[in-house]
Amino acid sequence: MTKVLFVCLGNICRSPAGEGMLRHLAGQNSNLHVESCGLGDWHIGELPDKRMREAAKERGIQLTMRAQQIDPSHFDEFDYILGATQEIVGDLFFYAKTAEHKSKVHLMTAFSGTYHNQDVPDPYYKGIADFELVLDMLEDSCLGLLEEIKKKS
Ligand code: 4NP
Repeated sequence: MTKVLFVCLGNICRSPAGEGMLRHLAGQNSNLHVESCGLGDWHIGELPDKRMREAAKERGIQLTMRAQQIDPSHFDEFDYILGATQEIVGDLFFYAKTAEHKSKVHLMTAFSGTYHNQDVPDPYYKGIADFELVLDMLEDSCLGLLEEIKKKS
């Protein structure tokens, strides 16, 4: 079992979309556990942003998870901890207390071919095209991540 955690700021746009996208691309029989969380506590318990739910639904992905905040236990529990931007990755490195914990932290696009090591931009104050770009970036990133996981196992 490989455990993957997507992390953004609010856990209502980018990281739940990453969670849904990875599950969708991995299919039913994968040996994956996927969750997402936010650095902030503003949206705890909420569904993902309606615009992201609608954009994901157009691609056959239902986002029904509820927002949660990053917790120190996540660094023990998960194998891949993926931050949406370099800034978020920096915060995750700061929270990670051991070398092993730090080694789990990557940028969401670290395994992407097309968007390699680019920040996944915050769409919250933007328009529909920005939500679509997030999904495009996550799709390519998740395909790369699945290849990486396959190689490792
Ligand atoms: P996310 O987007 O980090 O992709 O979930 C945001 C959602 C909410 C806020 C910021 C970013 N906010 O400031 O409330």
